[in-house]
Amino acid sequence: MSGRSAPPRSDTPWRADLRRSRQLFADFRVEQTDPARFYGALARDSVGQLSGYLDLRGATMLDVGGGPGFFRDAFEAAGATYWALDADVGELSGQGAIAAGTVIGDGMRLPFRDDAVDLCYSSNVLEHVPDPWRMAEEMLRVTRPGGIAFISYTSWYGPWGGHETAPWHFLGGARARRRYLARHGHEPKNRYGESLFEVTVKQGLDWARTQRLGEVVDVIPRYNPRWAYGLTRVPGLRELVTWNLVIVVRAR
Ligand SMILES: C[S@@+](CC[C@H](N)C(=O)[O-])C[C@H]1O[C@@H](n2cnc3c(N)ncnc32)[C@H](O)[C@@H]1O
Repeated sequence: MSGRSAPPRSDTPWRADLRRSRQLFADFRVEQTDPARFYGALARDSVGQLSGYLDLRGATMLDVGGGPGFFRDAFEAAGATYWALDADVGELSGQGAIAAGTVIGDGMRLPFRDDAVDLCYSSNVLEHVPDPWRMAEEMLRVTRPGGIAFISYTSWYGPWGGHETAPWHFLGGARARRRYLARHGHEPKNRYGESLFEVTVKQGLDWARTQRLGEVVDVIPRYNPRWAYGLTRVPGLRELVTWNLVIVVRAR
């Protein structure tokens, strides 16, 4: 396998600037009506960001909770061999047929051997599993020494923590779920306590500090501009301004 550590590629103009944050936000606003636009943009953004940690050309990667395939297209275009694992057949078939190289399984018990991939990637999944840090450790287990685990999740006290029940999750997840049911006549897609859990920025920082499976390369708010990265050091405020936290670990 290749995928050795590499500096950012010169043809990858990925920059965590304000323009990028604003564009991602604009794309996010049409997530329901035009998912291809939002997820396509997010996938291309991920390729640019990941290219700063390893060379994707020839790298073997696993996308845990990959969903319907937008990320496959972007990572394959960048030269990676892309495997996806997801627990939900309905999610996987959201764009049509399920692509070859897709595995049905549980992110907390990955059906892969140790050191199998150069990159283990997960985007917006940790908050959907009941034991998120077990999933993070599984991701590092399957990443070869020197490879990268990129762990990204929606933080609970961020603006989108409650997903479609936001902003009512600030009054409690169970209450927000009940309110949604009363208003819409059906349960939200992401059901608090079943398929949506409270994962905070502090939990991520604590896990990153105490885990022994790799060297932490970055802990950063995914969508914020670089000048706002320091906010993750401010307790309380960091929970409110971080939509999504990324933990990047180089496996031992
Ligand atoms: C919000 S979607 C994220 C999709 C994609 N990664 C993205 O960033 O757009 C969450 C995904 O996690 C998957 N998922 C939920 N629980 C899982 C589990 N225990 N193991 C693997 N995937 C899971 C869901 O089926 C869904 O496809």
